[in-house]
Amino acid sequence: MTSLPSLLVTGIAELVTNDPRHGEGLGLVPAAAVVVEAGRVVWTGGAAHAPAADERYHVGGRAVVPGFVDSHTHLVFAGDRAAEFAARMAGEPYDGGGIRTTVTATRAASDEQLTANLLRLLGELRRQGTTTVEVKSGYGLTVADEARSLLLASRLTPETTFLGAHVVPVEHAADPDGYVDLVTGPMLAACAPYARWIDVFCEPGSAFDADQARTILAAGAAAGLHGRLHANQLGPGPGVRLGCELGLAAVDHCTFLDAGDVTALRDSGTVATLLPGVEFSTRSPFPDGRRLLDAGVGVALATDCNPGSSYTSSMPFCIALAVREMRLTPAEAVAAATVGGAAALRREDVGHLRVGARADLVVLDAPSYLHLAYRPGVPLVREVLGRE
Ligand code: NIG
Ligand code: FE
Repeated sequence: MTSLPSLLVTGIAELVTNDPRHGEGLGLVPAAAVVVEAGRVVWTGGAAHAPAADERYHVGGRAVVPGFVDSHTHLVFAGDRAAEFAARMAGEPYDGGGIRTTVTATRAASDEQLTANLLRLLGELRRQGTTTVEVKSGYGLTVADEARSLLLASRLTPETTFLGAHVVPVEHAADPDGYVDLVTGPMLAACAPYARWIDVFCEPGSAFDADQARTILAAGAAAGLHGRLHANQLGPGPGVRLGCELGLAAVDHCTFLDAGDVTALRDSGTVATLLPGVEFSTRSPFPDGRRLLDAGVGVALATDCNPGSSYTSSMPFCIALAVREMRLTPAEAVAAATVGGAAALRREDVGHLRVGARADLVVLDAPSYLHLAYRPGVPLVREVLGRE
């Protein structure tokens, strides 16, 4: 039996490990090296102390960070909504109504078209440093269209989420409870084999209320799916509290929170996933990330990449927004985009470069991780080492 050669990655000006062994916060190591074997990190530390390896790769005095973990995207869709964006920038409000436009386009698309779009977007994400990505359904909203969305996504990522409860589609507008029966019955049965997670857009008035969300998440749990929620995006609401009560891995958006929501997040350990691309693209107030961190809440950052509320695939852009608009420090924002996203997906093997982690290394065209927020809009990801 032959074993894969080990690789010494050296010439790292600054290494972000998220490893407490190397210190608090990002576990920074200056003048660092990493040894990788069989796709895993087997050693990190100062280059002067690096062990020998079969091969050697010099990154030329650049910073290396763990691959970003984008824990919230909607990449299975067809078409775009550029005109809706332009109208919003001219003053129209965002209320989620445009989701139905994308549903129509998605239903009309072939499997090949949906896969081509998915691959295009996954390529964009990867070129910007994302190595783990969650993908939701939610633009099919029929049994067949939700199941194929998840089948196509599951070929490309293990982190797939059934979002049949995105909105009530027009053909069920007169009977929303009938639609909930469809989601929790035949649609869930067809989708569960291709999904790890189940999600509900809990936004009374625009999508689903707390009772409906509870029913849908319970059905999902009975089918073996783990729950997560879109909550408190468009206004204050019951979603965050429900997610905390149910002990979900994450509640996402968290734009409108009261003091009780913050306490519930802190006490439950449910991760608050912040999606600042949405506030940017809908010209809405940003969530108070500083308040969450100061309260001891676990925070993740994700793109929410979708054709309506946030058509960005860039985690570096979200890091820059989190620093500028939500008052996270650059270190907190990078942590939220890596180990925070991993916590939101309950993944131990990604989001950090501790011994045993997946060797997803992002080489920046910069000497420090600080440049991710300091140089917004600049393509700083030089290369991504590790799995395809
Ligand atoms: O996360 N909030 C609901 N769903 C998406 C928006 C989808 C869309 O506008 O197409 C979101 O923002
Ligand atoms: Fe979303």
